[in-house]
Amino acid sequence: MGVVEVIFVYSLFFSILKISSALDAMNTTQSLRDGETLVSTGGSFELGFFTPAGSTSRYLGLWYKKSPQTVVWVANRGIPISNKFGTLNVTSQGILVLLNGTNNIVWSSNTSTTAQNPVAQLLDSGNLVVRDGNDNKADNFLWQSFDYPCDTLLPGMKLGSNLVTGLNRFLSSWKGKENPAPGQFTLGIDVQGYPQLILRKETRIMYRVGSWNGQYFTGFPELKPDPIYTFEFVFNRNEVYFKFELQNS
Ligand SMILES: *[C@@H]1O[C@H](CO)[C@@H](O)[C@H](O)[C@H]1NC(C)=O
Ligand SMILES: *[C@@H]1O[C@H](CO)[C@@H](O)[C@H](O)[C@H]1NC(C)=O
Ligand SMILES: *[C@@H]1O[C@H](CO)[C@@H](O)[C@H](O)[C@H]1NC(C)=O
Ligand SMILES: *[C@@H]1O[C@H](CO)[C@@H](O)[C@H](O)[C@H]1NC(C)=O
Repeated sequence: MGVVEVIFVYSLFFSILKISSALDAMNTTQSLRDGETLVSTGGSFELGFFTPAGSTSRYLGLWYKKSPQTVVWVANRGIPISNKFGTLNVTSQGILVLLNGTNNIVWSSNTSTTAQNPVAQLLDSGNLVVRDGNDNKADNFLWQSFDYPCDTLLPGMKLGSNLVTGLNRFLSSWKGKENPAPGQFTLGIDVQGYPQLILRKETRIMYRVGSWNGQYFTGFPELKPDPIYTFEFVFNRNEVYFKFELQNS
């Protein structure tokens, strides 16, 4: 074999090795360093460190594997890491901690329960979850990124409130293309009075999508079920939310 072939075979070998080593989960004995990623089993989403265009800072985020520019979630939105020494760990308490180069906690998740063997897993829906290694039930997740939306509502995410715990999930714009910190605009369900979907610029109401009349938002009759997606609005004693799903992922 000539040198070129050797290099070719060598790089093929390592690219195969790289593909086969793409993990979708990590436990307390592992950590995710800048440059490493988790890829969901179906290959839809990737979790890792990125720098927004026009910035020099590093953020831990989630993007479409096939479209890395499309960032759908960011952990340390307003708290950038200045170099490539960021690391993500899962603690034995089941908490995700994002550390900077000097091991200071930049961002962390939280939980009100515990697990024997906590693992962080990136699901193919784009939901980063912390769960017990032996328990796949969504109701038992210790934490999930779907509960802390940034500017993107993915299929299956709930936009709205858990009326029992008070958790309110709403979207907030990025400050700018180069800065994922929460910006001026929010979209969420206002539960004062009859629930309505409201777009705000800071505290000012810019647009009311209106309340749900059983079929659509009164201020947005254009939103209709179609061949691409279905949606639902749930309003009961425990929760109020809007959610959509794709007919074909
Ligand atoms: C963590 O994952 C590694 C790699 O899959 C595995 O070898 C190890 O046993 C796991 N540790 C625990 C505590 O589950
Ligand atoms: C992060 O996790 C790795 C692997 O378990 C461990 O070696 C390291 O000490 C952890 N870092 C901190 C700050 O806990
Ligand atoms: C890590 O974060 C701490 C606390 O915010 C800060 O004082 C320190 O300079 C940071 N280290 C690096 C390498 O950025
Ligand atoms: C988790 O953190 C969020 C945001 O900091 C906070 O609003 C929420 O109450 C916390 N939940 C628990 C269970 O501690």
